[in-house]
Amino acid sequence: MRGPRECLYYPDEIIDEVRQGNDIVDVVGQYVHLKRQGANYFGLCPFHNEKSPSFSVSPDKQIFYCFGCGKGGNVITFVMEYENCTFPEAVKELADRAGIRLPEAEYSEEARKKEERRAQLYAVNREAATYYYRMLRSPAGGVGLKYFEDRKLTAETMNRFGLGFANGSSSDLVRHLKGKGFADDLILEAGVAAFDEKRGMHDKFWNRVIFPIQDVQNRVIGFGGRVMGDGKPKYLNSPETPIFDKGHNLYALHLAKRSRTEQFILCEGYMDVISMHQAGFSQAVASLGTSFTTGQALVLKRYAKEVLLAYDSDGAGVAAALRNSEILAQAGMRCRMVDLRPYKDPDEFMKGLGHEEFQKRIDNAENAFFYKLRQAESRFSMSDPASRTDFCREAARELCRFDDDIERENYIKAVAEKYFIDAEALRKMVGSYALAGSTQAPVPVVRPAKTTGPAEENGEAKVKRSPGSEAAYRAQKYLLTWMLESPGLYRQVTGFLQPADFTEGVVRRCAEKFFAQSLQGKTDVASIISLFEEEAEQNEAASCFNSVPELPERAEDRERALRDFIRAVKEDSVQRSAEDADDPDSFGRMVRAKKQLEVLDKTKFTL
Ligand code: GTP
Ligand code: MN
Repeated sequence: MRGPRECLYYPDEIIDEVRQGNDIVDVVGQYVHLKRQGANYFGLCPFHNEKSPSFSVSPDKQIFYCFGCGKGGNVITFVMEYENCTFPEAVKELADRAGIRLPEAEYSEEARKKEERRAQLYAVNREAATYYYRMLRSPAGGVGLKYFEDRKLTAETMNRFGLGFANGSSSDLVRHLKGKGFADDLILEAGVAAFDEKRGMHDKFWNRVIFPIQDVQNRVIGFGGRVMGDGKPKYLNSPETPIFDKGHNLYALHLAKRSRTEQFILCEGYMDVISMHQAGFSQAVASLGTSFTTGQALVLKRYAKEVLLAYDSDGAGVAAALRNSEILAQAGMRCRMVDLRPYKDPDEFMKGLGHEEFQKRIDNAENAFFYKLRQAESRFSMSDPASRTDFCREAARELCRFDDDIERENYIKAVAEKYFIDAEALRKMVGSYALAGSTQAPVPVVRPAKTTGPAEENGEAKVKRSPGSEAAYRAQKYLLTWMLESPGLYRQVTGFLQPADFTEGVVRRCAEKFFAQSLQGKTDVASIISLFEEEAEQNEAASCFNSVPELPERAEDRERALRDFIRAVKEDSVQRSAEDADDPDSFGRMVRAKKQLEVLDKTKFTL
């Protein structure tokens, strides 16, 4: 595991100053509608989709925590997660907000290297983009230019998208970049060149037209390259690199986010997006040669509430559209389907029918739920009573998945009307499925056959920690939270537990810092969170101070619960040290622990 400190850029005092200059309730309140409830504020979590608020912000602790998805941290974590930026970027933004002047960053060796590396990767990509751009507009780029012209792109469009051309030589770009002083390993890491035994170092793209891919800040982060004909593979894309995250970027988002419309139009291909923009639909975006991800849905959600899917009208397109509508719904975005028939994709549609007709298709775009039912319909024979009943069952199962009562009721009525089903009977059927808990309707898992590339990551990076029992681990977090909330408790617990009893990793470091602060009589958990650089670690740290077990009412029962937690942690600690052959004191530790546990049973706690 990367150490928590070696990546920090600024001295602790500065980080503290930045945190103290930015009240977490103010900052989060800019993005999330918060309502006071007792000592805390609550709102709808911006990091997962929910209907009732489980996202809490504590003005006293200066931390946030979502009881639904487990994201949590201090004000810096929030900015990192929300803006999808790095720790130093978040510190910088918050310093600006509070009018704090940051000193020249005190780069640790590793941090400096990492940041310099990223800067160089951007530089290589920028240089390559310039090179391809110029090539397209040079005599050597004639074929590329003709290709784009044949596809009806104007010079203005080509410029807006920075389109380029890679000539037939397989080492020109490498030579060019080397001439600019970029080192081999950097060029390789940027993904614009590859290495193999036979050819040595060679350009990744040659004899292709080039589509630079930019992030929301307009920086070039990668490329797509298309053959100018029927060759295979049709598209080549840059690999993922430290600056090219395919799961959180979208093609043309930097342009689309400025379009100020209510909805995005999600297309399958780069050419679709470009045609759409050229025809005046600058809200069009596409995923990056890989399947659309939840991360991308959440990025889109920052700018708009609805996505229209303009996917190919072939089988793979329909399967992808169904799959993506699920992802969008899970991210809490509305989603409708644009019917492109009789054309195959938006690019062809634009050439055939043009702007006005497409606008009509947008206005008439079908709600994703009805689209799905319509697709399901084709599997049943609606005139056969048995088959029709099966269809109703399928519809009812789908309807169960609306967890908002009003929304579900509205859909029940609409489905009943559309398919001539008795509303009351359908409502009953939905109710019985809901009771049976069979809300897990089959999610289409078919991926569009043509998308290749790395499988999307599902779920967050897990925080590493040494083994031990799950229950004991939970008890450690309960104890930290409890001690934070009842300041008198720390003194009583330290008689039995020390930070070394906590599981190695995030929770141990939290305990060390928290115990040290408590000893000084002043806890500040928001500062503890800044010990960690990785988001996943910060989430884990926040959960250490937001783990509230169901505590019994009666004082003696609460005392018993406390003893149980302490015992669970202690026994787990002893167990771990017994298994650790390198611990010379494991026997002594065991004996001491046994004595402490005997005392524990007789100790009166004041709670
Ligand atoms: P045109 O045929 O030029 O109109 O391309 P398109 O942009 O309409 O692409 P298409 O609908 O065939 O595919 C949609 C997207 O899938 C493309 O933009 C690429 O991102 C990706 N894709 C298509 N073919 C390949 C391939 O062979 N390899 C990879 N990695 N991605 C591909
Ligand atoms: Mn196409």
